[in-house]
Amino acid sequence: MVSIDPISTESISRAVDLLRAGQLVAFPTETVYGLGGDATNNRAIAEIFAAKNRPDFNPLIVHVAHKAAAEKIGQFTKIAHALADQFWPGALSIILRKTSNCTISALASAGLDSLAIRVPGHDFARSLIEQTCHPIAAPSANASGRLSPTTAQHVADQLGDKIPLILDGGPCTIGVESTVLDLTKEAPTLLRPGGISVETIEQHLNMRISTSAPRNGTFKSPGMLTSHYAPARPLRLNAHNVEPGEALLGFGPGGTGATLNLSESSNLTEAAANLFAYLHRLDAAPHQAIAVMPLPEEGLGRAINDRLRRAAA
Ligand code: TXA
Ligand code: MG
Repeated sequence: MVSIDPISTESISRAVDLLRAGQLVAFPTETVYGLGGDATNNRAIAEIFAAKNRPDFNPLIVHVAHKAAAEKIGQFTKIAHALADQFWPGALSIILRKTSNCTISALASAGLDSLAIRVPGHDFARSLIEQTCHPIAAPSANASGRLSPTTAQHVADQLGDKIPLILDGGPCTIGVESTVLDLTKEAPTLLRPGGISVETIEQHLNMRISTSAPRNGTFKSPGMLTSHYAPARPLRLNAHNVEPGEALLGFGPGGTGATLNLSESSNLTEAAANLFAYLHRLDAAPHQAIAVMPLPEEGLGRAINDRLRRAAA
């Protein structure tokens, strides 16, 4: 049974212990409640996707306590500095190229070489992150396809049976997600309108910001706009055998002879945690192609298959 604890020194320290142990904690930010996990821990990130029952691995926003921590994981451009100095802590997430020594789980960024980063404007959220001593990946703490939560009760209604702790900080002051700006290209692009208006940002930068929205005004899921990690080697799905020159990415006990096995015990959470790292490894290995054994189209298996199909396309 989930416990809903009002924010206090004690509840934060309990949350810190859980996060350090790779478990998930829902916590308030000024925008919406986030479902937090240690962003450097593949397994914790896989648990986030499992708890939300997300059919794909849309990349997550990594939350840090201050700009200096953000600079360790993302390559700041001039515009990034200007925006972080003005709007952080606050409801702005910026997408930057990863640093070469970035420790963030490949699953958190869905295998992309960029990362969404934000310093939340909620004091307790920042203390939680600071005390955990790790960046915290946190999508909105709702089940996939449902409304974003702005109270602890919303989180409990949707995820209460999946997580041990919800920190209750009362209703969120902003109530919509952060604005997401892509700064990886020359011109900043708005990927998601949010808590800080694009006009305010344009005014501060003294430049126009282009948007990714099509004419009908609906934004595509931003992570889907970018091409995801695809191995250089051809990928063959639903493989039941290995052809000469192929590496086999296995799943389940039937994959014991595989080059690498996503999960010998057929555990989809474990498989998700291993997915991007293993694809990278097999892509670097001396094989001409990668064959992947079938995974069930259920739970996290849907997200894994979605990414494998994209990688094979
Ligand atoms: O207000 C918020 O931002 C909340 C609170 C908890 O901080 N978090 C949140 O996270 O909304 P999430 O994971 O639900 O939204 C992340 C958004 C997604 O639309 C995703 O596609 C985009 O950011 N995103 C993340 N990393 C990206 C990347 N590397 N490239 C493009 N888009 C990215
Ligand atoms: Mg969301």
